[in-house]
Amino acid sequence: MGSGLCQSVCMAVLKASIDSSSKDWAALDNAVETTDLTKAFGDRVVVDKLNIRVPKGMVSAFVGPNGAGKSTTLRMLLGLIRTTSGSATILGGSIDNPRSYLPRVGSLIEGPAFYPGLSGWGNLEVLAALGSLQKSRIPKVLELVGLEKRSRDRVARYSLGMKQRLGVAAALLPEPDLLVLDEPANGLDPTGIAAMRVLLRRVADAGTTVLVSSHQLIELQQVADWVIIINLGKLKYQGELAALLEETGSTLVGVDDSKDVDRLAAVLRDAGYQPVAAGAGRLRFRVTHGTPASINRLASEAGLTLTELHSGHSSLEDIYFEMTDGGSIA
Ligand SMILES: Nc1ncnc2c1ncn2[C@@H]1O[C@H](COP(=O)(O)OP(=O)(O)OP(=O)(O)O)[C@@H](O)[C@H]1O
Ligand SMILES: [Mg+2]
Repeated sequence: MGSGLCQSVCMAVLKASIDSSSKDWAALDNAVETTDLTKAFGDRVVVDKLNIRVPKGMVSAFVGPNGAGKSTTLRMLLGLIRTTSGSATILGGSIDNPRSYLPRVGSLIEGPAFYPGLSGWGNLEVLAALGSLQKSRIPKVLELVGLEKRSRDRVARYSLGMKQRLGVAAALLPEPDLLVLDEPANGLDPTGIAAMRVLLRRVADAGTTVLVSSHQLIELQQVADWVIIINLGKLKYQGELAALLEETGSTLVGVDDSKDVDRLAAVLRDAGYQPVAAGAGRLRFRVTHGTPASINRLASEAGLTLTELHSGHSSLEDIYFEMTDGGSIA
């Protein structure tokens, strides 16, 4: 997606998603709110003026292809790396003062590291002792992640999915208000992914805000309330998942040359259509009036030849692909 178009279309996307929301999302408090959050490694900007919000009490999916900047953003929020510029508030505390909020945040950022010779229970006991946390919470978190029956087995005998769940249990030990998980479903089979989804829902229903990253929107679409999509460090979409799903009832048009997408977006916007996403040579917009023939006429009057024109429902996966240019790698 060209950056000029991205700015205009993505702002429209953002606005549309907020406008069409059935719930009053704007009134919800935010567990996380960033303002122009930026990270550069040398002169490479990998998180670029990110303005995102994570509504309290919800499951928020933070998605984008490999290299999009998800882990870097989460690391900044957790005070693991410094920001280059911009600001953020996490549970009311400033990102410049992680100690003000970190005790209320649980996280699983890399694959969890455990003592393989100890049981799941034993590992949590060590963590509780190291972090001066209540041991009495151990049975509760083991039950939450569904490991209570295997808690006395050595971790060396756990499957990958069980280790991931033990990692979430460890993150829940301090009874956090915010749980941050970086790709917790990585490497899990479909059953493991489904179990992780159930677990995230349970945690959110118990009152903890969940921010979870994935490189696949599909993985989280059944559990997320709120969706943040980034690519190449920039925000592509932020809004209620239900609003994004509504946008699947839309029309897709394609032009030969990706440079023409900008012009096509302008023509359609002038005709009262709302562009909702754009990718290389393709543009998706909300159908409010007109017919395929009238859309074709508009384009042709502007000197644009359409190579594609589809009306109807497309999958969430297609929309995600368009927003992320088919999952580009930085
Ligand atoms: N310490 C570092 N030094 C230099 N570049 C880095 C560093 N950490 C990350 N990057 C770069 O920042 C970009 C974003 O990486 P990041 O790990 O945040 O992406 P991601 O969205 O988490 O991707 P994935 O889905 O593969 O986990 C990548 O181009 C990566 O190479
Ligand atoms: Mg990552």
